[in-house]
Amino acid sequence: MNKRAGIFIILVLALGAVSVFLSQEQKIFRAAIDPGYKDSRLSVEKRVINLLSQMTLDEKIGQMALVEKNSVHDIKDVPLYGLGGILSGAGGKPANNTPQGWLDMVTGYGEASRSSRLGIPVLYGVDAIHGHGNVPGATIFPHAIGLGAAHDRELVKKVAEATAEEVRATGIFWVFSPNLDAPEDIRWGRTYEAFSDDLEINADLGSAYVQGLQGAATDKVEMVATAKHYVGAGGMQWGSSSNKNFKIDQGTTKASEKTLREFYLPPFKAAVRAGVLSVMTGLNSWGDEKISANKYLITDILKKEIGFKGFVVSDWYGVYEIPGGEYTAAVTAINAGIDMVMLPYDYKTFIKNVEKAVRKGDIAEERINDAVVRILRAKFSVGLFEKTPEGNLEIIGSKEHRALAREAVSKSLVLLKNENQTLPLSSDVKRIFVAGSAAHNTGRQSGAWTIEWQGIDGNAIPGAISILEGIEKSAGSGTQIVYDANARFVADEDLADVGIAIVGEKPYAEGWGDNANPILSPEDLEIISLLRQTSKKLLVIIVSGRPLLLPDEMEQWDAIIAAWLPGSEGDGVAPVLFGKRSFSGKLPLPWPANLDQLPFSHEGKASDKTEPLFPKGFGL
Ligand code: BGC
Repeated sequence: MNKRAGIFIILVLALGAVSVFLSQEQKIFRAAIDPGYKDSRLSVEKRVINLLSQMTLDEKIGQMALVEKNSVHDIKDVPLYGLGGILSGAGGKPANNTPQGWLDMVTGYGEASRSSRLGIPVLYGVDAIHGHGNVPGATIFPHAIGLGAAHDRELVKKVAEATAEEVRATGIFWVFSPNLDAPEDIRWGRTYEAFSDDLEINADLGSAYVQGLQGAATDKVEMVATAKHYVGAGGMQWGSSSNKNFKIDQGTTKASEKTLREFYLPPFKAAVRAGVLSVMTGLNSWGDEKISANKYLITDILKKEIGFKGFVVSDWYGVYEIPGGEYTAAVTAINAGIDMVMLPYDYKTFIKNVEKAVRKGDIAEERINDAVVRILRAKFSVGLFEKTPEGNLEIIGSKEHRALAREAVSKSLVLLKNENQTLPLSSDVKRIFVAGSAAHNTGRQSGAWTIEWQGIDGNAIPGAISILEGIEKSAGSGTQIVYDANARFVADEDLADVGIAIVGEKPYAEGWGDNANPILSPEDLEIISLLRQTSKKLLVIIVSGRPLLLPDEMEQWDAIIAAWLPGSEGDGVAPVLFGKRSFSGKLPLPWPANLDQLPFSHEGKASDKTEPLFPKGFGL
């Protein structure tokens, strides 16, 4: 055989090998589709197996990509890459930012995804962490810390049900909530997103929230809930953030494994028992390693030991926080057990990298199959293949939901101090002065994750009612309410019977709310002191996402209420002030006396130093 013939034979053999290799994928691609997986009478597991067996590697990897909606440059990419999930992150709103605009946007992505070869619908996810907060006109429930103060399982379940109804009305079936972070340090900008620092409250309310969102049956749920942020995020240390703009958020959890297991895992176990279908890993590190790289925590503990059957989703860009570049980061995270990657930007490179990793043997195809099984299980369980948009947009901000939110507000108030028979306010009180930065400011009382990621400071929450308006509504006809934000009241012989200062924090989200010294602002203290001079009795209502360190002047305040971030129904406050409802809220975490006490570590070291100003569980 001459040299040419030799080369020719080698070429033919090589081409043959390639075509055998390609034909496996192509065979799957070209085969007639067995529509068994579309039959909703079959069990979820049967449908998953049927569909998985018909998917090419590319189609499987596409399912593992979660893309932020503004990063989907062309809607045709949704079926082309078979994207598994799309989310609205910060600012991920439709051009027409109305409930109808949301429904149209989400329906558009859903329809596009169904036009792919296998028609696998995309799962759209949203941070409805206190109601469908992104959507103007939605009911804004108190942030979780207020629900923790109310500590009422049935109420929390109803809040989650109502949230799920409003979210579903816009065609969305995945919510990134509940938050089980258990914050030890109130300087963290996400303190208010959690119910409590207490494992029992978190387990109890977290599981109630999952049940409320998802509904009872695990293979026929109404919504996919997400327990986040797995795990130990509340134990991050001040000054350890990996983000140069932050101090604690995205930092390092120093807890021992014993502490993690004792204080941070139980709420996740409770959520898994309640059937939660997705778990989001945190942006924190445990020791030297980002959680999303930690196979022991994700695969060994969460999936094998606890028995979680849903899918693990990484948090915003979190996978790329793993060192080694994009290829290595994706390989490490997926091998650690991440099933869906919140990229959230560049899906094309991700898909290419993962495909290369499988071909090279850096990721086993079984790992990909496991991830896709878990994602499809959630999609089938929520009935995504059968869904047609409910479109009952009138449920958004409905009277019933607002009444429920109002009840939640009333139950969340914690009475910290009450002297000189200040509360309840008597119905024949003649004159009330109301002042303060949060008195007539529905944006402040709602906090962040409302319309905008960082919230809005001002009266710009459609359909919301301020705490002041609630007081005006509740007061008797013989009571005069005088409002001035800056407390410029004239001190004459007509002192107010009661001055109410409603003060607190401007909205903030995530690390932007990390605060070395969480106190009332000098402006707020000035208003309180002016009001003190013009009122016989002084009530201070604190609207904040965390306990704030109180000044010595608090001795001169007759009554103090922690109102947390009540949301759109500010009129839930007044009925409790006027004694139409009683105070029932209890502190869901300790209220520190000073900075030296922080953090209130679960291991009990720092908090042993001195007593907090008010202990956890306190409430008059
Ligand atoms: C937050 C998550 C959130 C995600 C999607 C991240 O920055 O840490 O809690 O679910 O964004 O918006």
